[in-house]
Amino acid sequence: MHPAFLPEKFYVARDTLAQGEKTLPKESLKDSGGHSAKLYIETQGCQMNVYDSKRLGELLVASQGVEITHDPTQADILLLNTCSVREKAQEKVFSELGRFKKLKDQKKHLIIGVGGCVASQEAEAILKRAPYVDIIFGPQTVHRLPELLNQIRLEKKAAVDVSFPEIEKFDSLPMPRAEGPTAFVTIIEGCNQYCSFCVVPYTRGIEVSRPFDDLIIEIAHLRKQGVREVTLLGQNVNAYRGKTVDGREVDLAELISVVAEIEGIERIRYTTSHPAHFSNRLALAYQEVPKLASHIHLPVQSGSDRILSLMKRNYTRAEYCSKIKTLREIRPGMSVSSDFIVGFPGETEEDFKATLSLVEDIAFDQSFSFMYSPRRGTPAERLPHPVPLLKKKQRLAILQKRLETFERRMNESMVGTCQSVLVEGPSKKDPVRLKGRTENNRVVHFEGSPEQIGHFVTVEIVKALRHSLQGNLNH
Ligand code: SAM
Ligand code: F3S
Repeated sequence: MHPAFLPEKFYVARDTLAQGEKTLPKESLKDSGGHSAKLYIETQGCQMNVYDSKRLGELLVASQGVEITHDPTQADILLLNTCSVREKAQEKVFSELGRFKKLKDQKKHLIIGVGGCVASQEAEAILKRAPYVDIIFGPQTVHRLPELLNQIRLEKKAAVDVSFPEIEKFDSLPMPRAEGPTAFVTIIEGCNQYCSFCVVPYTRGIEVSRPFDDLIIEIAHLRKQGVREVTLLGQNVNAYRGKTVDGREVDLAELISVVAEIEGIERIRYTTSHPAHFSNRLALAYQEVPKLASHIHLPVQSGSDRILSLMKRNYTRAEYCSKIKTLREIRPGMSVSSDFIVGFPGETEEDFKATLSLVEDIAFDQSFSFMYSPRRGTPAERLPHPVPLLKKKQRLAILQKRLETFERRMNESMVGTCQSVLVEGPSKKDPVRLKGRTENNRVVHFEGSPEQIGHFVTVEIVKALRHSLQGNLNH
């Protein structure tokens, strides 16, 4: 029998709960002493997973009356929201599950759930290697967790749902709760690009845009709770084509211009943007919408046309550079960050040098770089001429050193300037100081007062550290 906990420890009390405009069935998970079940969520991977985990927590609080805990040893339900984009992330899942098993050995009623991209690809392997897992859900079925919890209670065997129901996910989630002055909002799910190295189209499904009006309502709701900066999220936000209630289609540029009209939303970002779909309309938004931050994350992956073509990225180096040039003509000094992959199959010294020279040409000032890792089921997995691990490590070290030089250079060039900083909260290391973010996405620490949290202040940058800045409040 599967060790599902609910019959012995918890009972389910049903009532309903009004949440914004939606009414959700509420099933409170309580023990015989009337204590709510405690939920711990661990998140791996990208911002979309962070967003999903947050919404998942809100759903279970609203619909099941659980309490969130940040201590896994206190939890009655442990959820792991996984990422399979790179090899390392996938390996981490089984080591985390090993840790969870130790907790379950001490607490028989503990429920363990695995969600996200690894769950979507490896449901069977998880059940085989980790038979103590009770629930498996995919990136598009987070909203079905209350049903899955019920299922294990009634059927006493593992509940699995890794299907791709269209957009139903967002209809079933309660309105999000703001946590501080910044918020992420997923505008499009899935990806149709099928870059040859990437597993995302297989784990997250095809592109589905959320309806335009739902997004505006969600952002206005976040604004009412004190949010001043939103980041519009998706694997390929440029493909956003949301329907309005009267059936019209809205693209990302139009969505941005309407979000900018929401009073009190002062800064807008979006990620991730695909260079091939970076339209002139979007470039023009930088002219028309001052609230659009002067920072763009535009993953290039490689500086070699040969590798870009093998990666099926659908742009050339020259096309990429020309888009950045246009953007910098519209917004001089625009900060550009990127993602890079080194050691893609067949990458020669020449190809790698082309990536290094692109770094010089663009002067990316903040980036992420990875060694290529073959992902099961992707076309690149079958390409000849794999690059040896040692070579990949060497190239990664060289690239990261170069990227760091440009990051430091940007940080140093900001010393002496005054920056508009959105204050996010107290600094972690020194709680008497505050922490905020500049328009070009740099963390700044400075002395201030708690009333400034959640507001924009002007900070003079006095010192550049490796990955952050220090400043003085400008009165
Ligand atoms: N949607 C984004 C784009 O437009 O490129 C990327 C999404 S992906 C989740 C984030 C980054 O992971 C990619 O930009 C790429 O650099 C890296 N990545 C994806 N698959 C990889 C693989 N198989 N090996 C190494 N890095 C990978
Ligand atoms: Fe992956 Fe390429 Fe889409 S990197 S998420 S297939 S844009």
